[in-house]
Amino acid sequence: MKKITIKGTGSCAPERVVPNSYFEKIIDTSDEWITTRTGIKERRMIEKGQAMSDLATLASASALQMAGISPEELDLIIIGTSTADMVSPSAGCIVQHRLGAKKAVAFDVNAACPGFIYGLAIAQKFMQDGSYGKALVVGGEIISNRIDFKDRSTCVLFGDGAGAVVLGHSNGKDDGEILSMDIESDGDLWRLIHVPGGGSRIPASHEMLNEGLQYLKMQGNEVFKHAVRTLVDSANKIMAQQGITSGEIDWFIPHQANIRIMEVVAERLGIPTEKVIITVHKYGNTSAASIPVAFDEAVRSGRIRKGDLILVNSFGAGLTWGAALFRY
Ligand code: UT7
Repeated sequence: MKKITIKGTGSCAPERVVPNSYFEKIIDTSDEWITTRTGIKERRMIEKGQAMSDLATLASASALQMAGISPEELDLIIIGTSTADMVSPSAGCIVQHRLGAKKAVAFDVNAACPGFIYGLAIAQKFMQDGSYGKALVVGGEIISNRIDFKDRSTCVLFGDGAGAVVLGHSNGKDDGEILSMDIESDGDLWRLIHVPGGGSRIPASHEMLNEGLQYLKMQGNEVFKHAVRTLVDSANKIMAQQGITSGEIDWFIPHQANIRIMEVVAERLGIPTEKVIITVHKYGNTSAASIPVAFDEAVRSGRIRKGDLILVNSFGAGLTWGAALFRY
C-alpha cells in the first residue's frame, strides 16, 4: 500500500466581509449574542453572480502552485460540496474544465460539512494501490444563498469559502503521510439539518420558493449535542488506531462551526487551546470549506510546519462526521 501525503494547500474567501452589525440591522439579534454563542464576528459572502467553482478554482490553483504540480498531471479531482454551481454537472467537472486538468476523473461528494474529510478518505483509497498518482481534494461551499435572512437561528452562522489540498505519494521519511481516516454517517438523523426544496422530492416551483423550502433548516441545539459526541469519538478512534495520544498532536483543526463546540471537544480530547486552529471568528461556518481554509492559512502563516502531527474532525448534515490524522 502506498503512503499518501499533502503536497500543497490553497484557499479562497470572497472579498465581501459581512460583520455581525449587518444582522443587527435586519433581524432581532446582537453582536453580543452572536459572539458569545458562536465565536463569530464576521463572515465572507460572495457577490451576486459568483459561484462555488469560482472560489474552488482559485483555491485549487494556489494548492497546485504550492505543490509544484500542473493541472495536466492530476489524476483525480474530488470536491466536497453541497452547493455546487448547478444541479448538474458536478462542480468537479466545472473545476476540471477551468483548471485544464484534462486527464483527471472529477466528481463531487455531498457530505455537507465533513465533505472535505470524505473527499480525503476517498482519494486515499483511490491512491493507495498506486493506480491514481496525484489528486486534488477541495472543500467548497456557498451557504449564503441557502440561508433565510429572516431566520435568526441560522442566518448569522454561515459564510462562503473554498479550500484545497493536492495529494501525492509520499517519497519517504521526511515527507508527510495520511496516517488514519474515519468517516461515518447516521441517516436516521437527516432532519436535524436539511434543505427540503430544490431536489427530486420537492422540485423548484413558485410554491416551494414562497414557502422558503430552498433554505437550510436546522435544530441547532440537537446538532450541538451530536456534534460533541461524534467529534470526540471519531478523533479518539483514529488516534487509538495509530497508538497516538492527544499529547502528541501538534495542531488540532476542528470544524469551524461554533467556538463553544470546539472548546468542549478540545477539552474532552485533552488538547490545550493554544494547539487549536481557529478561524470561526472571521469566516463563520463555511461547511466543507472550514477545515481546508483553516489548514491552508495555518500553513501559509508558518504556524503549521512540515513534520507536524495534525488532527482534523468535522460533522454536519446527514448526519455525517469524520476525522483525519496526518503528518504534514
Ligand atoms: O456545521 C454543522 C452545522 N450546525 C451547527 O454547527 C449547529 C450547532 N449548534 C449551535 O452552534 C448552536 O446550537 C446555535 C449557535 C445554533 C444556537 O446556540 P444555542 O446556545 O444552542 O441557542 P438556542 O438555540 O438554545 O437558543 C437560545 C435562545 C433562544 O431564545 P429563547 O427561546 O431562549 O427565548 C433563541 O430564540 O437564543 C435565541 N436565538 C437568538 N437570539 C439572538 C437564536 N438565534 C439567535 C440570534 N440572536 N441570532
